[in-house]
Amino acid sequence: METDIEKAARLIKAGKVVAFPTETVYGLGANALDAAAVVRIFEIKERPAFDPLIVHIAHLKDLPLISTSTDERVMLLAEKFWPGPLTIVLPKTKLIPDIVTSGLPTVGVRMPNHSMALEMISTAGCPVAAPSANKFGRVSPTNAAHVRKQLPCVDFVLDGGPTKVGIESTIVTLHESGFEILRHGFITREQLEEVLPYFQGESKAKTAAAPGMLKSHYSPIKPLYLLSDKILGRADLNNAGFISFSGIYNNRFENIVMVSKNTLLSEYAVNLFSAIHSLEESNNIEYIVAEPVNDEGIGMAIMDRLRKAAYQYL
Ligand code: TXA
Ligand code: MG
Repeated sequence: METDIEKAARLIKAGKVVAFPTETVYGLGANALDAAAVVRIFEIKERPAFDPLIVHIAHLKDLPLISTSTDERVMLLAEKFWPGPLTIVLPKTKLIPDIVTSGLPTVGVRMPNHSMALEMISTAGCPVAAPSANKFGRVSPTNAAHVRKQLPCVDFVLDGGPTKVGIESTIVTLHESGFEILRHGFITREQLEEVLPYFQGESKAKTAAAPGMLKSHYSPIKPLYLLSDKILGRADLNNAGFISFSGIYNNRFENIVMVSKNTLLSEYAVNLFSAIHSLEESNNIEYIVAEPVNDEGIGMAIMDRLRKAAYQYL
């Protein structure tokens, strides 16, 4: 009997598109060396061709297939953070089709820290290009049901239960003088600084076609607001779904999703997208209110996602 992991690997080898779990969010994967298969990812996601994909590997020995980099810092980062939620943007090889990188000379690479993902990639025998498995601009999936809700036509969903990190990987690029964070994630600047010096430059992401950097992204289908005095003054708070972190404001709301038991930012990150998904689906909720946190550590990544989700309602 073929296992689900073997089936997912076989489909990827055959040029199909498969959703699979990682430690961050579910990915929508295809053979990164097969341009036609990668085109299907863009079609299924309704993703514009200017938004490049991350390539996932299971073994460090496969990195030279994907990147020409000889930068010693890549090994330092890989040793410390892989497998794990860190994507490194590196010069690409000719083997990687232009569609994967949206024509950029660079490619984002990461090794996910999830046994099913690693086994699937290993068994498929090719690097796997995968964006988050949601419609473009919408909230990323943290379980298999979220994927099926948004992408019912995907060839197969490899179900690995809920994801452990809950927000997407940190994306870094390397400059001569240090590193630059293109997208905040679970791995914080402080953790990266322990390995590499920090580059205080202007973000190149604005011109590097990285819509993860767009001001509006992660849009829920209902309005999402950050908690403020103005919001607390609304007369219709009973129609709101509240994403609560500290518990301090719980007496003001009727519909509450607590994202943390122990007031830990890592718990907020794990539960944030799943809270948005459940409030999106809840019939008696007209709009969502989320409790903000300080822009420190993982709070940077949480606030990045919340500001983008709230952007059109600011
Ligand atoms: O945790 C994650 O990173 C998840 C899981 C599935 O691995 N993937 C993910 O992929 O979040 P996606 O496509 O939703 O976001 C990838 C973002 C792009 O939107 C773009 O901003 C950035 O990565 N990116 C990819 N390649 C890049 C490159 N060569 N240069 C700059 N940014 C790049
Ligand atoms: Mg995404």
